[in-house]
Amino acid sequence: MRVQFKVNGRNVDVDVEPRLTLADCLRHHLRLTGTHVGCEHGVCGACTVLVDGAAVRACLILAVQADGVEVVTVEGLSHDDHLTPLQASFRKHHALQCGFCTPGMITTAHALLTNEPHCDADRVREVLSGNLCRCTGYISIVEAVLDARSAYGHEGEPAKDPAGNPAKNPT
Ligand code: FES
Ligand code: FES
Repeated sequence: MRVQFKVNGRNVDVDVEPRLTLADCLRHHLRLTGTHVGCEHGVCGACTVLVDGAAVRACLILAVQADGVEVVTVEGLSHDDHLTPLQASFRKHHALQCGFCTPGMITTAHALLTNEPHCDADRVREVLSGNLCRCTGYISIVEAVLDARSAYGHEGEPAKDPAGNPAKNPT
């Protein structure tokens, strides 16, 4: 079946088996391997991408269900030339070790901070409770997300890039 949708701002047209998950479509058809696949049944959160702005498990929806939507993967939340504020905060707080869970953490946290830049630690823990990390532990991850809130407008502070300049977009 042919499916057309937008990924990271680019229109794509793919020919897929009806049973193919969006996660496998992204990884194998579109070579966007930043989206990781762990449990493949909606438990670990490693495959989380943004679908029309909402954090969604890409292993739980079929590629054909993405027809007409806008998908953003972790690659779409990255820059070639510098770390985004959220990425920089993960580095600053040592919020990753092997990095397997990190794309899902970043996409989930980005969706949260975009919609709720004033979230507190309890809310961050609640939202990230669906993302499993086998090695870092969660304290540093929560601290990284909390520290990145200012880039999303927390407390009315202007968003800044890692160099301290006003950011046009927190991504
Ligand atoms: S691979 Fe999708 S939630 Fe684990
Ligand atoms: S950094 Fe290894 S699973 Fe989270």
